[in-house]
Amino acid sequence: MTGTGVLAVTPELYPLIKTGGLADVTGALPGALAGEGVTVTTLLPGYPEVLRALQGVRVDHQYADLFGGAAHLLSGLAAGLELFVLDAPHLYERDGGPYGDARGIDWSDNAFRFAALSRVGADLGLGLLPDYRPAVLHAHDWPAGLTAAYLQYSGRPRPATVMTVHNLAFQGRFDRRLLPALGLPPAAFSVDGVEYYGGVGYLKAGLRLSDRITTVSPTYAAEICTPEGGMGLDGLLRGRGDRLTGILNGIDVQTWDPARDPLIAAPYGRKKPSARAANKAELQRMMGLDSEPGAMLFGVVSRLTWQKGLDLLLAALPALLAEGAQLAVLGSGDAPLQAGFTAAASAHPGRVACLLGYHEAAAHQVQAGADALLVPSRFEPCGLTQLCALRYGAVPVVARVGGLADTVIDASPMAVAAGAATGVQFAPVNVPMLEHAIRRAAALYRDKATWRRLQANGMAADVSWTGPARLYADLFRGLIAERAA
Ligand code: ADP
Ligand code: GLC
Repeated sequence: MTGTGVLAVTPELYPLIKTGGLADVTGALPGALAGEGVTVTTLLPGYPEVLRALQGVRVDHQYADLFGGAAHLLSGLAAGLELFVLDAPHLYERDGGPYGDARGIDWSDNAFRFAALSRVGADLGLGLLPDYRPAVLHAHDWPAGLTAAYLQYSGRPRPATVMTVHNLAFQGRFDRRLLPALGLPPAAFSVDGVEYYGGVGYLKAGLRLSDRITTVSPTYAAEICTPEGGMGLDGLLRGRGDRLTGILNGIDVQTWDPARDPLIAAPYGRKKPSARAANKAELQRMMGLDSEPGAMLFGVVSRLTWQKGLDLLLAALPALLAEGAQLAVLGSGDAPLQAGFTAAASAHPGRVACLLGYHEAAAHQVQAGADALLVPSRFEPCGLTQLCALRYGAVPVVARVGGLADTVIDASPMAVAAGAATGVQFAPVNVPMLEHAIRRAAALYRDKATWRRLQANGMAADVSWTGPARLYADLFRGLIAERAA
């Protein structure tokens, strides 16, 4: 075993391929863990954008037939990270996203696409390459869930395994008849293996068979053990509660640094949040909102899905407008929500605006220019946009769920008096409580001294990876020591 070497297995990695925060995490964690003396190498599917970015390519292994076609295991560097890339054209060489086509329809062979990823991760863990032996396999979300299963059913000495849940809503459940084709033995099809409600559950397998389970906030770790938050897996998770921990995400504080951000109109430091005014003006201009420096500007940067609760925001819009506030939405996702925000923007020109699509630079400008960032999620494993908002002085107004509950300190009279508050929280997550939160935020905004204090507290909060990376490093080391004993 090579000390504390970790092989991360993931379907996404920023800046190469991203649909959400998972990519931000797998992109930033290796660098943060290096500071803790933990070396991470990452295994990614060979999507076209990943193959294009890979430098110094070596061919480490050839598979004559990996789920229906030849494949090569490559290694090299991309985005400053050491990568293994599974070049399997029959599985990954296509236009579209990592999980589906351009219309968002899942690829019909996802069971094999991600079984292949997990299988190769497991092979690397079992010593496929003579000069590479990770001590820990770290699997991210359902696409990497079978890694622990392939290791377990190999019957060979295996490295330690950690399964991280970024979102329990995505579980990867497939037909049981695929079992032989997946290369898993009949014995694997049991409640203690990969069986999940009569099918093969990829996430379930990872949760059942990994040595440790982590998720991305302490509150979400507790929520997923309840029937309300467990999405069918709460029983299993309760049973493995002593193996489950919540470790908060951080953000990359180099990429997200308002003082040095090349993607915003006017960089500003922590000492001078008043310099945000120029960014607010730019955001209003860019989104076609009335240029009113005094109007409170709420921003949203989000996938447009049920999870994010933005249908509630559409319903709460009259309350927001009644405060004289404006709304700038940057998002992409479900067609009805896209249509809802487009219609709201036409009904309220100058007051409501939306930019549909995924735009990195615009996300930075919203964080730099909005007075407050709205995150009314129904559930939120961690959430990264509220962390960016804290760092940029956009006061987060959030649902009190998951990681949002753990990272924002509500402006209760006591927290304000104690000088600790960083934002506004609301619960339960429904339209009246969201309206109430919007009104509270607007009242706080009118009290300029208090608002400045909220901004300053948020901008001083540590949202970096330093603390979380230490917790991951401790977890990995503890696990290695335990298995060596
Ligand atoms: P999730 O992973 O559930 O989508 P997170 O808050 O963890 O939520 O992460 C979302 C990430 O995606 C953040 O980095 C955010 O800035 C980014 N993001 C979301 N929507 C957009 C968009 N439309 N344009 C640019 N960036 C976006
Ligand atoms: C998921 C969650 C989000 C979390 C991200 C990274 O996409 O929805 O809350 O921040 O993963 O862990």
